[in-house]
Amino acid sequence: MAAQNVMICENLPQELERFLGQTSYDRLFVLTDEHTVVDCFPLIQGIQAVAEAPMITVKAGDTHKCLDSLSAIWTRLSNEGATRHSLLLNLGGGMVTDLGGFAGATFKRGIRTVNVPTTLMASVDAAVGGKTGINFNGLKNEIGAFYPPLRVFIDCEFLRTLDRDNILSGYAEMIKHALISSMADYTTILLYDIDTMNYGYLNKLVAQSVAVKERIVDEDPKERGIRKALNFGHTVGHAYESLSFQKGHPILHGHAVAAGIVSELYLSHKLCAFPMEKIRQVVYYMKSYYQPLFFGCEDYETLYELMTHDKKNEGDRINFTLLAGVGEVRIDQAVGREKIIESLDFYRESFGV
Ligand code: GLY
Repeated sequence: MAAQNVMICENLPQELERFLGQTSYDRLFVLTDEHTVVDCFPLIQGIQAVAEAPMITVKAGDTHKCLDSLSAIWTRLSNEGATRHSLLLNLGGGMVTDLGGFAGATFKRGIRTVNVPTTLMASVDAAVGGKTGINFNGLKNEIGAFYPPLRVFIDCEFLRTLDRDNILSGYAEMIKHALISSMADYTTILLYDIDTMNYGYLNKLVAQSVAVKERIVDEDPKERGIRKALNFGHTVGHAYESLSFQKGHPILHGHAVAAGIVSELYLSHKLCAFPMEKIRQVVYYMKSYYQPLFFGCEDYETLYELMTHDKKNEGDRINFTLLAGVGEVRIDQAVGREKIIESLDFYRESFGV
């Protein structure tokens, strides 16, 4: 995906209108969920092409990132006469951009999509990089395609409608991007005061964060190698996320990733000599904002089992992306059970749970 495909906007309606005016297409369709149609659509409905576009609205929430919703989108596109030259504008969080991206990838073997992410998580991660898909057979993102959008328009104006938990969720991915990128990014990201919420400055941090992802995706769009850097914090993080669902207290993806980062920094220290003083800085920052994740030794076996099912494993190895230092990524690091259990202990000790 080319870097210039992501636009960080000062004035989204103006830039989107200009883009639509310069792009050749026969019909425009707008995909929203039941929340973004109310909270976010008003920001762009003044654009004539958008106001005239058929609107497709799906139910909100990850459980609706499913075949039924996909089928509903295909049906509307088909009934309304969409062609291969039509454009699908996805306005929403990661659920909408993943689902709409996959609908775009598959309808008539591919129509162009435009992503307008409305959450911090989607802005810095889901909407950028071309991963699209749906959940299937009880598994997350089981069916999908790499299908880059024609353009991504990011505007932190939408983030004003987000609650603190959702901001924190997206910010965890920004911390990850900084850790895999450079000392300069790392320092900036750990200096931002999330409680003050300066949206203008956040827009700059988002630009910095997205640039990290774009750089990596440009180099390795299909995750054959260095794109695995983006999985840092996610192997343990996904297990924490699944455990929270199993226990009936689901947490947002980014909160699990934040906890996963702490555990995987520990593994990075043990296996790749990542400096402990930097881990202390990250933990200090996270403890100021993120709620601890409560689990005990009795959950270790479940967490380990969940990690063995991670679809990024090959055979019976549990593969991690680790760091030898800030910006020094080591992919495909096989880690044994004992160290993994220690990394769970490390999280609990660090957060006092
Ligand atoms: N969210 C990780 C990736 O896009 O590769």
